[in-house]
Amino acid sequence: MGKIILTGDRPTGKLHLGHYVGSLRRRVQLQNEGDYDKMFVFMADVQALTDNADNPEKIRQNIIEVALDYLSAGLDPAKCTLYIQSQIPELAELTTYLMNLITVSRVQRNPTVKTEIKMRNFEANIPLGFFCYPVSQAADIAAFKATTVPAGEDQEPMLEVTRELVRRFNQTYADVLVEPNILLPENATARRLPGTDGKEKMSKSLGNCIYLSDDKDTVWSKVKSMYTDPTHVNVSDPGHVEGNAVFTYLDAFSTDEDFAEFWPEFQNLDELKAAYTAGGIGDMKCKKLLNNVINKMLDPIRARRREYEQDIPEIYNILKKGSIAAREVAAQTMDEVKKAMQIDYFNDEELIRQQAEKFKAK
Ligand code: TRP
Repeated sequence: MGKIILTGDRPTGKLHLGHYVGSLRRRVQLQNEGDYDKMFVFMADVQALTDNADNPEKIRQNIIEVALDYLSAGLDPAKCTLYIQSQIPELAELTTYLMNLITVSRVQRNPTVKTEIKMRNFEANIPLGFFCYPVSQAADIAAFKATTVPAGEDQEPMLEVTRELVRRFNQTYADVLVEPNILLPENATARRLPGTDGKEKMSKSLGNCIYLSDDKDTVWSKVKSMYTDPTHVNVSDPGHVEGNAVFTYLDAFSTDEDFAEFWPEFQNLDELKAAYTAGGIGDMKCKKLLNNVINKMLDPIRARRREYEQDIPEIYNILKKGSIAAREVAAQTMDEVKKAMQIDYFNDEELIRQQAEKFKAK
């Protein structure tokens, strides 16, 4: 059986550097290496609506933002199928059947759901659709028989639920669905990029993001005010690199070539870290390096974005074509699912024959 890569994002905002290092950069690499049979990347608008039910306009506006982020980051519709979750009704259908194979308490134990319920103050009143989104996410993955899901580590509990549901389905009915594996970023700092304020996670609601679509001035003003080391008051003071967001970002983004280009005094990040720790390196210089590193990474993305922005109708067209192609794949799986569940009544000639006989014999 082949390798099928699938992953997606909620279109609730523009994508930021956390998305980029956590997953998007890897997807583009995987796409370009070509070592797969099929690759699907989608916008999880159905999932986004589970906690934005009263704000569909927000989702609608962000579909095109995320599509621009995808395309400008290098996802190529000739190599991977780009689509919108809500346009594949088979996913809702599969979700319904998978819900029978999992308990409420199992979903309640999901640590990602737990944290999100707290973050959204849903404790007293959890929307049922929101509560069920891990099941819907399992359907997203299983409907395409995905083997490989590149995602950040916060998605691990979702993949566990998916694997359990796939096993339950295959044991209960027939061997139709495929157990997927998560593909985490290799670089540990990239798994959960902190915000520019040094807080645990880069997140739109915390207002600590650098967006893929930020221009040079915006990036510099964000980098300039980044959290570093509060004990590093004078340049000569010894500095700390742990918990220092500038160094975490350099860990995630900088290469040895960047040092040769922007700060040849050091061969690589380890050398800079050693010097910073010893004392004598100013934060501003480190921030200038980081600014250069980020802009070097974002420049080609910005250039592609400007091109795509000139033809927005074509982007909707790409998404429409992708959604049609994706739907065919999901529909094929649903045929197998329904057969396994014995709810393919009209194709079941054996059933019709048996019933005919049973009632004739009366
Ligand atoms: N939960 C993911 C997120 O918040 C989005 C998502 C929905 C997803 N369905 C998926 C990711 C299937 C990977 C596979 O970013």
